[in-house]
Amino acid sequence: MIEIADPRQMRAWSRDRRAAARRVGLVPTMGYLHEGHLRLIDRARRVSDDVVVSVFVNPLQFAPTEDFGRYPRDLPRDRSLVSARGAECLFVPGPDAVYPQQPVVRLLPGSLGDHLCGPWRPGHFAGVLTVVAKLFHLVEPDVTVFGRKDAQQAVIIRRMVSDLDFPLEIIVAPTVREADGLALSSRNAYLIAEERRAAPALSLGLTAAHDAFRKGVTAAADVVAEVRRVVERERLLRLEYVEAVDPDTLAPVGRVAGDTLLALAARVGSTRLIDNIILGDGLAGDEWLDRP
Ligand code: PAJ
Repeated sequence: MIEIADPRQMRAWSRDRRAAARRVGLVPTMGYLHEGHLRLIDRARRVSDDVVVSVFVNPLQFAPTEDFGRYPRDLPRDRSLVSARGAECLFVPGPDAVYPQQPVVRLLPGSLGDHLCGPWRPGHFAGVLTVVAKLFHLVEPDVTVFGRKDAQQAVIIRRMVSDLDFPLEIIVAPTVREADGLALSSRNAYLIAEERRAAPALSLGLTAAHDAFRKGVTAAADVVAEVRRVVERERLLRLEYVEAVDPDTLAPVGRVAGDTLLALAARVGSTRLIDNIILGDGLAGDEWLDRP
C-alpha cells in the first residue's frame, strides 16, 4: 500500500492508474476506522481495481462548539487496518494541504439541509460537501462508496454529484451494527460503560417503529411516537429529533411508506449519536457483527 499526503501527488497517482485502464475507487473517511468503514473498502474493492481510502478530519464540518479537537485519531492503527483490508492507497493530507488558505467559497445543501441534522448542525453539510467535492477533484475516482449510517449526508452528496455533474458513480452501503444493534461509529469510543449500555435503545426504537409500520400504522406522527416511547425509557438518552422524511427530498412526510427514511439523533451524555432505517426494511438490510 502506498501512502500519500501531498494532493498533487495524489492526483498524479490516480491519473496514472486510470491511464493504465484501472478503475479507481474512493472511500472518504475521518479515520479512527471501525468495521463500518472497512466494509466500505470491501465494497469499493468489488467495483474497482485500485481503492483509495482518505483519512482527513475536516475542520470545516465542525462547529466551534463541536468535538473537532477531541475527535479520536489513530493513524498508525488506521494505516494497518486499511492495508490489511487490501486498499492500494491511503491518502492522508494535512489541514494545510487541503486548505492552504481559509476557504471562502462553499457548497450548500439547499433544502436538503432543512431537516434532520441540518438545523442542529448549522454549516455542517456545507463543510461536508465542500471537502467531499475537493476530495473528488484531488482523487478523481470512478466510483466512491459512502455509508447509509449517515443517510442525510449520502443523499446530499448523491445530489451534489448529479446536480454538479461529477463524473463518478456513487454507492451507498448498508449500516454496520454491533450484535446489540448499536450502529458502529468512531464516536462510540466516547461512551462510558453506562452510556454504551443505554445506546442500543436508539436502534430498538427504530425497530419498534418498523414493527408498528408492518402492523399497519401509517401516520408519521404515530411512527415517530413509537420511536420516542422506546428511546425515552432510557434516562441517559436525550433525543434531538426523530423524523420521517422522503428519501430523496428529505422533506417530512405525513404518511409513511416502505421507502420512508426514519432518522434520529440523540445525546448520550455529551456524545451525539445518529441512526436511521428505511421503514419498509427495518434493520433487515443492515450488516451485523457477531449477531447471536
Ligand atoms: P466518517 O464519519 O469517518 O465516515 C466515513 C464513511 O463511513 C461515511 O460514508 C459513513 O457513512 C461511513 N460509516 C460510518 N459508520 C458506518 C457504519 N456503522 N456502517 C456503515 N458505514 C458507516 O462521514 C464522514 O466521515 C465525513 O463526513 C466525510 C464524508 C469523510 C467528509 O469529511
